[in-house]
Amino acid sequence: MENTLQSVLHPGGWDAAIISQFAWVMFGAGALIFVAVMALLYLSLRRQERPAGALLWIGGGGIAFPVVVLSALLGWSTWRSAQLAPQSSHGALSISVTAKMWWWEVRYRDPASGLEVVTANEIHIPTGRAVHLGLNSADVIHSLWVPSLAGKRDMVPGRVTSLTLRADKPGIYRGQCAEYCGAQHAKMALHVVASSPQEFDAWLARQARPALPANSPVLERGRTAFLEQRCQACHTIRGVAEGARLGPDLTHVGSRMYIGAGLLRTHRATLQGWIADPQASKPGVFMPGSPELDAETLRALSTYLEHLK
Ligand code: CUA
Repeated sequence: MENTLQSVLHPGGWDAAIISQFAWVMFGAGALIFVAVMALLYLSLRRQERPAGALLWIGGGGIAFPVVVLSALLGWSTWRSAQLAPQSSHGALSISVTAKMWWWEVRYRDPASGLEVVTANEIHIPTGRAVHLGLNSADVIHSLWVPSLAGKRDMVPGRVTSLTLRADKPGIYRGQCAEYCGAQHAKMALHVVASSPQEFDAWLARQARPALPANSPVLERGRTAFLEQRCQACHTIRGVAEGARLGPDLTHVGSRMYIGAGLLRTHRATLQGWIADPQASKPGVFMPGSPELDAETLRALSTYLEHLK
């Protein structure tokens, strides 16, 4: 189900289909014209004398032809662009996305409880419905780009921009920050998970719940380690320690596919490596390592985080 191609040419929604059509028409027409020009060049180099009607070739091929082709492209693309989804939140599901160096904070409003649901690096959307993303940045300029679903949109500090997504079929669509934003720009990925409206509603309801209880000695030890290590200075786990917004909300971190913004599959082992030394896999990331943690505590902490589904 995962669409790992991250490709404009494999659209998964309405807007992306229009954009991929642009890409194919540009490429197709460009290729045809290129071949025709090369053929004419070959013929002209083979001839010795100047052909009759040379001026006609220059005027026709150099002026009239580009004017006609470019005007046709302009007309067609203007007509087609008007069919892109309107950038409006009216009637759409609204989600706010904040770009931070180098991850994505994603916020929903749970319709049942009115609670704010915060997650990271994963945007869940229902299929067949316009989703309005309100975008901003907490630090520098980033750009959200999920090529299989929509065009790019810059995320600018101090300003809210928006992007409408619509996925027509369920799937996992990879996206990437598309504006250079510092050392780990390349490792600032995200995934859009499109599922049926029922599955989406169930997912949102699960995310709105507080964190699962630590119902075994090792989980309890992990929870205690989270607090003792002062992880809550940057991370929130709803029901355990709330308020911090510097790092990703970890209330349901175990339910997410990746940690480190698309970097590592979520698993006890990767969590353990990440907590011990995040700089090893993402140099420059703002999370400090924990070299002083003993192996057993580290294991309990990562087991606890993996348990937070
Ligand atoms: Cu964020 Cu590049």
